[in-house]
Amino acid sequence: MMLNDPEQTGGMPEQPEVGFAEPVTAATAPASPTVPAALAAEGIPTRFACFVTGTDTEIGKTLVSSAILHKLVQQGVRACGMKPIAAGAEERDGVLHNEDAAMLREAGNVNLPQHITTPFMLREPCAPHIAASLEGVTIEPVAIMTAYAEILGASDATVVEGVGGFCVPFSDDFDSAGLAVQLNLPVILVVGMRLGCISHALLTAEAIISRGLVLAGWVANQVDPDMRFVDENIAALEQRMPAPLLGRVPRLDQASAAQAATFIELAGLPGWPATRA
Ligand SMILES: Nc1ncnc2c1ncn2[C@@H]1O[C@H](COP(=O)(O)OP(=O)(O)OP(=O)(O)O)[C@@H](O)[C@H]1O
Ligand SMILES: [Mg+2]
Repeated sequence: MMLNDPEQTGGMPEQPEVGFAEPVTAATAPASPTVPAALAAEGIPTRFACFVTGTDTEIGKTLVSSAILHKLVQQGVRACGMKPIAAGAEERDGVLHNEDAAMLREAGNVNLPQHITTPFMLREPCAPHIAASLEGVTIEPVAIMTAYAEILGASDATVVEGVGGFCVPFSDDFDSAGLAVQLNLPVILVVGMRLGCISHALLTAEAIISRGLVLAGWVANQVDPDMRFVDENIAALEQRMPAPLLGRVPRLDQASAAQAATFIELAGLPGWPATRA
């Protein structure tokens, strides 16, 4: 049995290979599963949710999360992003502003108050447990789970962006891995393609799976425009990662959700909205 054997984790069809600078097109994308006729007739919406983590900070989690939201919105789904903890916010007209939270909001189509989509909006751009302690705040799961429940009620799809890498501390007894466990969502790992990423990716995959979570897939994101042997690095990861490659996002001129979305294929993921027959 593989470490993250699809047979044991709910079933994940094999994913297509997606090449750099080769957007997924209708011709190359696999056919979406169709909704059973009875279900479609009743208009029962499918529900998709995932937790997006990364091999590090600043490696494309927000870009990929926004791209996923963009695809969901394009399919007519009520999709909402959540950035439960944001460290690095400035006050604008009396309201705290964080770039990740803003990008996720723009990519989704469900308008909820910011204290729901980002229950912990912290000013200092530093490790979250430090940013929280500077404000005398304790980052705790209850507030996040309560907000998440509100989002579930208002949307059909939710994309939760983690913070930094997978094991970022929030407090003495709560961290980003613990949050993923509480949410119990399939995890999508964004691998920032740069020297050293293979070990980071494999260690992160191990950490995800060892907590009993499903690693739904990974995305290769070319953060370093000068990285050498990108194809070889991706090939090494494809051989070793216990989950499918969902796409390869090249270095983009304009790192927009719409542009990144063309390089990611999610049709095989559990709960991904099906094409209605
Ligand atoms: N493929 C890409 N092409 C061009 N720019 C990119 C690409 N991926 C990410 N970037 C840029 O790199 C920066 C970091 O990306 P992003 O904010 O998505 O990372 P992150 O992992 O969410 O960071 P954080 O840990 O702060 O949440 C952003 O300015 C983004 O526009
Ligand atoms: Mg981010």
